[in-house]
Amino acid sequence: MNDSKIVAIYGSPRRKGNTATLLKKAVEGARDSGADVEEIVLRDLKLSPCFEIYGCKDAGECRIKDDFQKARDHILAAQGLMLASPVFFYTVSAHMKILMDRFQSLWVKKYWVDKVSAGQANQSRKGLVIAVGATKGKKLFDGMLLTIRYFFDVIDTELWKALLYRGLDFEGDVLKFPEYLDEAYLAGKKFARELNDGAAI
Ligand SMILES: Cc1cc2nc3c(=O)[nH]c(=O)nc-3n(C[C@H](O)[C@H](O)[C@H](O)COP(=O)(O)O)c2cc1C
Repeated sequence: MNDSKIVAIYGSPRRKGNTATLLKKAVEGARDSGADVEEIVLRDLKLSPCFEIYGCKDAGECRIKDDFQKARDHILAAQGLMLASPVFFYTVSAHMKILMDRFQSLWVKKYWVDKVSAGQANQSRKGLVIAVGATKGKKLFDGMLLTIRYFFDVIDTELWKALLYRGLDFEGDVLKFPEYLDEAYLAGKKFARELNDGAAI
């Protein structure tokens, strides 16, 4: 029996790209561990970028009404978050960044409305990150991981593991590396198990 709820976010514009293929494997692993996994494909959502009007400053509620509210509520109700994105110009994809920017309303809620001090909040959620880039540079994932770290802070999420793959560019490239797919599957399985163990404490 596994009571953990996980949200898996597909951040690539490609439906069958490298990150989507890896995330599907992680989802499969988590489900095989019994977790309840909700999949969100960002390219299918109606998501406006943040307008920076700070309509959220009274109650931390974003004024723009679109698919953000539903995605936010799923994420906040989950114990685990799987985030998959290709490296686009050394950070996350535009789809993923738009979602993250809309969470500024939660940043406002946490730090302005509820007046939480930095570092005071509990990390109640865990995150598994899957990222892929075409090149092989040492700093390929630095920008993305910094962005994710500050996004995770807003939603009280601890980075549990980051699966980072270099040298993958064209759709299907990841299929040449079955060991990457196995690693993603096993990570998903372990992630769900650990979330469930944590919930039982
Ligand atoms: C707009 C755009 C920007 C990109 N920027 C980078 C980059 O900065 N560094 C890199 O190594 N690859 C970059 N790439 C290549 C992708 O990271 C690579 O093709 C990846 O495998 C795509 O993953 P996906 O199939 O999950 O979409 C970029 C691709 C696009 C379309």
